[in-house]
Amino acid sequence: MRITVFLGAPGSGKGTQAKRLAEDGLVHHFSTGDMLRAAIAAGSEIGLKAKVYIDKGELLPDDVMIELINKALNPLPDSSKVILDGFPRTVAQAEALDKSPRSRVSEAIMFEIPEEILVKRLTGRRVCKKCGSSFHVEFMPFEPGKSCQDCKGEFLYQRTDDSADVVGRRLSIFKTQNEGLLSYYSRLGNLKKIDANKQVDLIQKSLVDLMS
Ligand code: AP5
Repeated sequence: MRITVFLGAPGSGKGTQAKRLAEDGLVHHFSTGDMLRAAIAAGSEIGLKAKVYIDKGELLPDDVMIELINKALNPLPDSSKVILDGFPRTVAQAEALDKSPRSRVSEAIMFEIPEEILVKRLTGRRVCKKCGSSFHVEFMPFEPGKSCQDCKGEFLYQRTDDSADVVGRRLSIFKTQNEGLLSYYSRLGNLKKIDANKQVDLIQKSLVDLMS
């Protein structure tokens, strides 16, 4: 498999870009955050466990996350191209991926962006309950709670972990874990960086160049 991991703070745009790059159906996109939110919505055992951590902005235990990602990757053919968005979050998770030659990471792309922009993006984010598209309150031509621009779904909501206090906790955990991840991938020689404080289309173009 060719596995690209997207590293970056909450709100740096990993999910937005990964979704776009996977639109052609040629790349598999796994967002561990989306997988956990789906599990919460389904009321499954892992969902019940995840909710406790997510609502506080804390990371789930490594063993739970490693099992979740392995279950997603195992059925894929060796020729698959994969983007992991939100995994790994810790060096232990990164090492677990590299343990098997099949899931060894080809490149890690770090989304770089100033912190003050992240807080604004996250606290203003509203998500469509039906299709998962996200919008910012400043740019929505309609009131929160009205229909989604993409799928006309009727309910836009604020993620429980996008409140100002939880965003602060998520950013602080990110800073603690990220240095180790950057050193890990830098040592292996597969770390790339991207300026994520640009327009969505420009970032996408840079990513396509970096990943080709
Ligand atoms: P997760 O869902 O992965 O959250 P996150 O990493 O905090 O990432 P976000 O989804 O908040 O941000 P993003 O970088 O994807 O940005 P987005 O594109 O949405 O994880 C949630 C929780 O699950 C964790 O806190 C943890 O509890 C748990 N978890 C998940 N994975 C785990 C793991 N491996 N181990 C342990 N626990 C785990 O963009 C954000 C906003 O900005 C959007 O409104 C978007 O429209 C806007 N935007 C995007 N790009 C731009 C741009 N270029 N210009 C202007 N606005 C933009």
